[in-house]
Order: sequence, then C-alpha cells, then structure tokens
Amino acid sequence: MPQNYISQLLNNNQNWVQEQIAIDEDYFERAALGQEPQILWLGCSDSRVNPSEMTGTGKGEVFVHRNIANLVSYTDFNFLSVLQYAVEVLKVKHIIVCGHYECGGVKAAMGEHQYGLIDNWIRPIKDTMRFYANELDDLDEKEQFKRLVELSVIEQVAHLGYTNIVRNQWAKSQMPHIHGWVYDIGTGYVKSLVSMINTEAELKAVCKFEQLKK
Ligand code: CO
Repeated sequence: MPQNYISQLLNNNQNWVQEQIAIDEDYFERAALGQEPQILWLGCSDSRVNPSEMTGTGKGEVFVHRNIANLVSYTDFNFLSVLQYAVEVLKVKHIIVCGHYECGGVKAAMGEHQYGLIDNWIRPIKDTMRFYANELDDLDEKEQFKRLVELSVIEQVAHLGYTNIVRNQWAKSQMPHIHGWVYDIGTGYVKSLVSMINTEAELKAVCKFEQLKK
C-alpha cells in the first residue's frame, strides 16, 4: 500500500508536467533560467501549512525556509545561510515569519513531556512563555496556546532584527521589511501581527512587547 502511494505521487508528477506544458509550452525552460524571489518565508514544517497555497504565490516568488515552530536560531547554520543568501544575494524585499495556531511545537513547549532532541529545539518557546508570563497567566489554556503562537512569531520578528545580516542590510538599503503572521489552520485565514519593521526605531517598537512584563 505505501508503495502504491509513492507510485501515485510519481504519476501525479508526470501528469502535472504534461498539464503545465499544455498551458504554457516554455514553463519549465523559463524556470531553469533563474529566480528573483522578493520574499523569504520562515514557516513551520507542519504539513497543513502551505505557503504558496495560502498566499496565491507561484514558482519563483518565495524563497522558503521551514523548521519546527518557525524559529529564528542564531546557531542553526542552515537557517543563517538561508537568511544571508536571501538578504545579501537575492536581496529579498520582505521576510515573512508565519506561525500557525495548533502548532505542535508550541504545544510541546507548553508541556513537560519529553520528545527527545526536539525538546532542545523548541526550548526558546519556553523563554517566550517566561517573558510574557504576566499576559499569559491571565488566559485559560486554550487562549494561552493561541497567544503563545502569536507571541513566539513576534519574538522571531525581533530576533531577525537583531541578526547582523538584517542590521547590515537595513543600514545599506532600509530593506528587508519584516512581517509577523499567524495562519489559522481551522479557517484558512492569515492574521498580520506586526509588519514593516525595517528600521532600528521600529524594531524597538516591536520589542515594546517585552516591556509588558512586570
Ligand atoms: Co507548527
């Protein structure tokens, strides 16, 4: 059965190629010439979150990095390389950090159950919980979960603004703009949480969230 499923995927690919060529003969030849995406996407690995589908973007428009719980890590060479290449070489105009409600990574960080190596990866979300404890403590568990998803996105936006990669590019060009979004798996709608943080002053405005803690 699993083998049939994989065969089906390969068949789907064959069909897709034929369909695209029928619509546009040079579709693949043009793609092979290069890419000029304007957006770097940092999203969750969750299989229900499909950036192209939800934003109506196509091939060549979005440079994508996904990891569990869409985290900005200062020690992840994979992420940092993607960021540096996107900002300095591709010169993307926007970075979108997109979290999502019902995120398993965020849920795991809220609890004490151990899942192995992943516990270390999602550890920064526990710090976010600590930073915003005053706000989160007033909410019931369901609302806490939703709000923590949002707060973690805002934290990642701030983290991006603290990278030397982004700061150096801001000094040169006032780009990229950074946006924090949350995607609602249950409705399909995206909510914009923060946006256009392309200067030091605006970064400080984002970080005012941190000052809410008493
Ligand atoms: Co997730």
